Amino acid sequence: MADEARFVEHAFDGDVHILRIANAPVNTLRTEVRAGLLDGLQAALREGAKAIVLIGSGRNFSAGAEMTEFGKPRKPPSLNEVFDAIENSRVPVVAAIHGNALGGGLELALACHARVAAPGAQVGLPEVKRGFVPGAGGTQRLPRLIGLEALRLIVSGDPVSAEEAVKLGFIDAVVEGDLEKGAVAWARANAGKSFTLARNRTDRIAGYDAAKFDEAAKKLTARSRGQESPKGCVEAVRAAFTMPFDDGLNVEREQFQRLVAGEQSQALRHIFFGEREAQRVPGLPADAKSLPVNRLVVIGGGTMGGGIAMSAANNGLPVTIVETSEEALERGLKRCEANWQRTVASGRLSQAEYEKRRALLTGTTNFDKAVGEADLVIEAVFENMEVKKEVFGRLDKAARPGIVLASNTSTLSIDEIASATKRPELVIGMHFFSPANVMRLLENVRGAATSPAAIATATEVGKRIGKLPVLVGNCDGFVGNRMTGKRGPQVEKLLLEGCLPQDIDRVMEGYGMAMGPLATGDLAGLDIGAAVRKARGTVAPVADAVVAAGRLGQKTSKGYYDYDENRRRMPSKEVEQIILDVAEKMQVRRRRIEDQEILERLLLPMVNEGARILEEGIASRPVDIDVIFVNGFGWPAFRGGPMFWADRMGLRTVRDRLAHYAEVTGDRNLQPAALIERLAAEGGSFAGLKSPAKPA
Ligand code: NAI
Repeated sequence: MADEARFVEHAFDGDVHILRIANAPVNTLRTEVRAGLLDGLQAALREGAKAIVLIGSGRNFSAGAEMTEFGKPRKPPSLNEVFDAIENSRVPVVAAIHGNALGGGLELALACHARVAAPGAQVGLPEVKRGFVPGAGGTQRLPRLIGLEALRLIVSGDPVSAEEAVKLGFIDAVVEGDLEKGAVAWARANAGKSFTLARNRTDRIAGYDAAKFDEAAKKLTARSRGQESPKGCVEAVRAAFTMPFDDGLNVEREQFQRLVAGEQSQALRHIFFGEREAQRVPGLPADAKSLPVNRLVVIGGGTMGGGIAMSAANNGLPVTIVETSEEALERGLKRCEANWQRTVASGRLSQAEYEKRRALLTGTTNFDKAVGEADLVIEAVFENMEVKKEVFGRLDKAARPGIVLASNTSTLSIDEIASATKRPELVIGMHFFSPANVMRLLENVRGAATSPAAIATATEVGKRIGKLPVLVGNCDGFVGNRMTGKRGPQVEKLLLEGCLPQDIDRVMEGYGMAMGPLATGDLAGLDIGAAVRKARGTVAPVADAVVAAGRLGQKTSKGYYDYDENRRRMPSKEVEQIILDVAEKMQVRRRRIEDQEILERLLLPMVNEGARILEEGIASRPVDIDVIFVNGFGWPAFRGGPMFWADRMGLRTVRDRLAHYAEVTGDRNLQPAALIERLAAEGGSFAGLKSPAKPA
């Protein structure tokens, strides 16, 4: 009881009782909270309350269920028992929402007699994004309050504002000023009113039209590829329209239990917690503070520089682009404007917001002056070491002492770039991904000399401009590109041995990737890979032959595929012939290749390189790698990333399959990494690895 009292405070304002959820930081509904609510409700009723207000202390109402309790034996009371007590209360129970009411938090509010909220509060049921369905009546109560709109909210998992919730009909009023006082006043004024509980409402679910429902469901799930939870949501919500309340609850419970135990939900929760973890840099001294950054300067207003500058302006950080000529500057700024204008045209950005953002973006050709006023510089000029060193030499002279100088290089050594300055401890890589205004991933690259303060600054600014920063070590390709690079040889071999581009992409897209590797190559331009191979003195017979035929990808309307005027891809007869010719010339006997083999031969090389990356300490934790792939490489979150995939396969099998493919394909890169050998021998997993994997 003492413990419960700590998690739910019981207060009074005359005859209105107040129950405050006090489980910092986000008021998850852990066992003690549920028990505290139940006790508090009973006590309030015993003591003759006229109305009861449920409110959150701290920064929000409640972020929902305590996910760390999932998979463990359930301790009573369940949320549904708490809800029964609320619904059986003879006096109204009013939820007062500020900050967030998400998942179980909103379900708690939906079980109340009424809901009021502070302006701007966010309410939603995001369970679908964690791979399951709302499990405490949300799929049954919300449709009874707002009809078919509930399907959109539950299947998308996106929250809405309190104001929108009032319009939709599941919040009764927005209360200005002090929420607790306002909610008490509202509850007192309405205490005599008779409320119809959500479970007893029928008006919004009447006249169920199966065809209309199916059409809405089809639209909403169209983009969920192989993900199961959106379909589970549809079935649970359908039950709200077609069954009595308690039967609907049973359907919801079945869907919840099935999905929450499944691999997809485990993968999604792995990524959800991993994204939080990845932003905490292990081993960073507690006093490593970010330097104050009020003006960002981006050197180079090309593809990447423009996108980086937009991210800053989109998040309220003033930014200046430095270019070498007025023409290049004009071109760079125009590209940002056009990009924003497209969003305005699509209705996703207001004209006023556009103007606010545009005003935060300036440009100049006066390098020294702009850099002299910078609090942080991010360089995004051509990918050439001589150019980078020249620029960093100038930056070092022009920038104030103590200012961090970052490079967006995707392949070059941060240490060598830093050597062009007298402040190597303040040089760091900030590797954004294209399109930089859209992609969330940011690989921050620590050089040998990079200081904790520089790391803290790159992390803080990254977060501030809407990115997900993951700290990685300095090596060719860093984490993401280094790992994806390793699947290239297998793509080549698969094409020679029997696959066509569409076979490989079909398997990868079937797995859930946003785009298969060959279609991705066509999008990026096949000349890029060809140039890299030339520089490294390597060959790829099929890729080289495709490029030699003038097929450079989407920009020439033909690459591994043919493209129509709408950039729709179609299998190419010419490419098929090129592949058959190369295979014949190399005397490769083509055969039918199973989908599972395609999948393994593309994913295992990445896993193997990921293990080496961990051995070398380039990534601190396996989950960092998974977070990188989900946020920067179109890896479906519901698959959990490459290291999660390997763990599910089991590292013994991973080791054996790698050794097998190394032998039959002659790709020495597929010899199992030492870390995989060790973990397989120990019966271990990546998830069970003590971080960092690198021996001290
Ligand atoms: P880009 O060619 O589109 O832009 C480079 C810009 O830098 C040009 O506008 C050029 O006028 C300007 N510039 C060159 N020297 C300059 C100087 N001394 N002072 C000021 N401006 C100068 O190149 P992009 O694609 O934006 O790449 C830039 C950097 O970002 C490269 O290091 C590249 O490796 C890296 N990167 C590129 C990615 C991509 O997908 N394009 C992804 C991640 C990193």
